[in-house]
Amino acid sequence: MGSGIALTGATHGIRAVVIDINEDQLERAKSYHKKQLDRSVSKERMTQEEADTALSHLSYVSSMEEASDADWAVEAATENIDVKKSIFKQMFDVFGETVVLATNTSSISITDLASAVPKAAHRVIGMHFFNPVPVMKLVEVIKGKQTAEKTTNATIALSEQMGKTPVPANDFAGFVSNRVLMPMINEAFHAWSDGVAEPEAIDSIMKLGCAFPMGPLRLADYIGLDVCRDIMMVMYTGLDENPKYLPSNKLIELVEQGHLGDKSSQGVYTY
Ligand code: CAA
Repeated sequence: MGSGIALTGATHGIRAVVIDINEDQLERAKSYHKKQLDRSVSKERMTQEEADTALSHLSYVSSMEEASDADWAVEAATENIDVKKSIFKQMFDVFGETVVLATNTSSISITDLASAVPKAAHRVIGMHFFNPVPVMKLVEVIKGKQTAEKTTNATIALSEQMGKTPVPANDFAGFVSNRVLMPMINEAFHAWSDGVAEPEAIDSIMKLGCAFPMGPLRLADYIGLDVCRDIMMVMYTGLDENPKYLPSNKLIELVEQGHLGDKSSQGVYTY
């Protein structure tokens, strides 16, 4: 998602530095950006000059220190609280003391994440984008207990500058988007394993009957089955261990087999 966030910034006049410790991910981000900008030119949504300008706004580095002059940071690492907390500590050390430390977490408590950087808790906020970021209009904005009003207002303004519609949600595990979306996806896995229907039928029924752009199982592959499982677990532990948030065995099984969806070429479907 980080590459989508960076591209959206770059096409809205914002200089964006993609940071990843994995060089392959940086290469993938670079080719994704080039491909999307070429497509925008060929579809006449953008002139070649505008695409070149957007490309010139983008850079790719493997260490945070190389982007230490940034005005804003959006963490978009894997949905694991320990990983995110350690990145937040690093962001606190590297970036200036007025920089907003935003997280694209899809479920983890902002207040909890902010506890990793107590001196900067007023600058920590949830800035939750949706895939594919250049297409989806929403940014779910989540304040932690100590998030300053100035931070929230600046996040709303930046989201709008990026062409998005910011909508607030409170700091509960899963916020609004995944509190509603993930149990529905999880239920589709239950329906599959109970033999209610095969994946293609489940997806067709939800697409044709409920006007979903993608069926829930196809969407799970698109999001990443590991991400879906992790989000369910964050809601399970964060919402009083309510069993309705336990990931289905079928979902867990696929993840354990390394079938993660689009990114591993195999999930519910084969790609
Ligand atoms: N980056 C940029 N643009 C993209 C893109 C990407 N990765 N993928 C698709 N697009 C663009 C395409 O370029 C195309 O635009 P043009 O034809 O004008 O160039 C447009 O989107 C439509 O794409 P397609 O014609 O290829 O396919 P489609 O009509 O089936 O749409 C889709 C694809 C936009 C992904 C659509 O299926 C969709 O909206 N699916 C649901 C997505 C969704 O629910 N996302 C939220 C997931 S939850 C999440 O992200 C957060 C979380 O916490 C888990």
